[in-house]
Amino acid sequence: MKTVLITGADRGLGFAFTKLFLNRGFQVFAGQYMPKWPDLKALQEKWGERLCILPLDISEEDSIKNAAALIAGQSAVLDMVVHNAGIMRLEKDILEGVPKEDILLQFRINTLGALKVTEQVLGLMEGGMKRLCYVSSEAGSIGNAHRDGTFGYCMSKAALNMGIRILHNDLYEKGFTFRIYHPGWMKSYMADAAGDVSMNGYLEPEASAVAAVEQFLENRENEMMLIMQDVDGCIWSF
Ligand SMILES: NC(=O)c1ccc[n+]([C@@H]2O[C@H](COP(=O)([O-])OP(=O)(O)OC[C@H]3O[C@@H](n4cnc5c(N)ncnc54)[C@H](OP(=O)(O)O)[C@@H]3O)[C@@H](O)[C@H]2O)c1
Repeated sequence: MKTVLITGADRGLGFAFTKLFLNRGFQVFAGQYMPKWPDLKALQEKWGERLCILPLDISEEDSIKNAAALIAGQSAVLDMVVHNAGIMRLEKDILEGVPKEDILLQFRINTLGALKVTEQVLGLMEGGMKRLCYVSSEAGSIGNAHRDGTFGYCMSKAALNMGIRILHNDLYEKGFTFRIYHPGWMKSYMADAAGDVSMNGYLEPEASAVAAVEQFLENRENEMMLIMQDVDGCIWSF
């Protein structure tokens, strides 16, 4: 049975990934950041041991190490990682001031978090599919940048893209393959300041996850080329 780790699996896109990978026959290690959110637990009642819920805060090194140890205790190989966990803080333009703490927090989760998770699980991926999938965003595309604010989110996703590029330079020769995904504007929780589900997006997370999983699982002729693709398969500069 193939195995996948999904970060930020409690709700939104990460929860949609969890359901899809279970349906595809994977054993899923679901990173749980919100122990009080009931959906993962309810899903486990249906899937039993196929769904392993792991406490995982990707901004905390010890939490990442503990999660990696739990995976190692349950499976000889980790085939795939879906780096999905992310946050967005809504800031405005430069005249309103640059909120340093919020920006640092977004770097800590969106950029460094994904990098540190990669670091801790690489050893578990030897002998498996060796596929690293990252949920990034068009917001991290320098070539297509259009916003006049939201520094922290855009900069942290651009830096994530650079981190993935450096990982690819190093790990491609070692058999790792990469996917970078822009999920589109979704009706998820991230964009709502009050923490409710946002009605502003144009896509349900489930619909975006279906397109993503196809891209994550397909084999490509040229894995040496690193691209960021969206829900329609269009390629974004980054
Ligand atoms: N929503 C969009 O339109 C959109 C567009 C482009 C890209 N994306 C990207 O898509 C990914 C999924 O976002 P989403 O829209 O599904 O957001 P979401 O509904 O907020 O889901 C993200 C999950 O990650 C969790 N999380 C936050 N901090 C974490 C941490 N330190 N460690 C582990 N998990 C953590 C969140 O918890 P909390 O809710 O408590 O923060 C939440 O459960 C993100 O990487 C995001 O940047 C989203």
